[in-house]
Amino acid sequence: MKKVIVTGGAGFIGSNLVKKLLDLNVEKLLIIDDLSTGNESNISSIVSDERVEFLNSKIEDIESINELFEDYDFCYHLAAGVGVQYIMDNLSESLLTNILATHKVLEACQANELPILLTSTSEVYGVAEDDVWTEETKSLIGPTTKLRWSYAASKMIDEFIALSLFEEGKVSPIIVRLFNIIGPNQLSKYGMVVPRFIESALEDKDILIHGDGSQSRSFTWVDDVVDYLIKLAEVKAYGEVFNIGQTEEISIKNLAELIIKKTNSNSQIIYKSHEEVFGKAFEDPKRRTPGIDKIIEFTGMKPTKNIEFMVENIINFKKNN
Ligand SMILES: NC(=O)c1ccc[n+]([C@@H]2O[C@H](COP(=O)([O-])OP(=O)(O)OC[C@H]3O[C@@H](n4cnc5c(N)ncnc54)[C@H](O)[C@@H]3O)[C@@H](O)[C@H]2O)c1
Repeated sequence: MKKVIVTGGAGFIGSNLVKKLLDLNVEKLLIIDDLSTGNESNISSIVSDERVEFLNSKIEDIESINELFEDYDFCYHLAAGVGVQYIMDNLSESLLTNILATHKVLEACQANELPILLTSTSEVYGVAEDDVWTEETKSLIGPTTKLRWSYAASKMIDEFIALSLFEEGKVSPIIVRLFNIIGPNQLSKYGMVVPRFIESALEDKDILIHGDGSQSRSFTWVDDVVDYLIKLAEVKAYGEVFNIGQTEEISIKNLAELIIKKTNSNSQIIYKSHEEVFGKAFEDPKRRTPGIDKIIEFTGMKPTKNIEFMVENIINFKKNN
């Protein structure tokens, strides 16, 4: 993997990935990002690197994408409408981006025989009731009238398109389902819970919990994710689907309390129902814990950071930036 394309490379996970790829001495790196939720500041330290080309464009608007993809040997496709708040605010646009842009990128990979890694999501499991969600767990997404499931449905379509093309021998895809990834440069404004709570705590503002706070999540450190993405490309795990996440769970109420403690904050915790915040078209899984045996088996790597480390690290970053 010497010449790499990263779509969504100015976003949270993408910017961490491109920096690591440059550290690993890739020869050539094309970043495609329309800065819809990404930020140029995420890549300002690397755009002057002569190996890097940054194309500020919506994927759907690129005219000669097949020619653009010539002369690369791997594509990471991360560009997508992401984040509960962003999805609910941009319903049809994010749905279409997630399907049309992904299809277009897959076609360009097919034309140029580029292997591709696609970032799907734990949302595809919906509100599955199994204690632990393995890659084979049956999805239980809600009715189409609950529009929050449009994100999950669009990512499932992406997976189906990629796996169908693989079955037909046309594309070599690797699919990862990411479970609540966090790290220093993640933005709060699209509804991501950890940066939102930390920013409120640092300003002694109320911390708003959606629901009663008993719902649990498992958070994973972005550097671990980047290492997995690079390793999966190296081992050429084509046609495979992997959960990437942590098995350590924390309730959202305990997360808020941990953040208040670590920031010595005077913030109060307040509660609002999901319906009050997002309207009737919303429902949320009670737990979300991945089975990670498969990714460990393929890569030999386990997630390395616990929630205390992650929270402390993000607090320090936000205090200094
Ligand atoms: N962060 C998480 O916890 C998480 C969880 C599950 C899945 N994912 C997936 O990981 C990927 C990266 O997510 P992230 O957290 O870094 O989010 P992000 O919003 O920071 O990154 C997405 C990037 O894609 C860009 N983008 C969006 N639509 C585009 C388009 N049509 N053309 C070009 N660029 C476009 C955005 O500007 C942004 O930089 C996404 O595919 C997301 O669905 C993330």
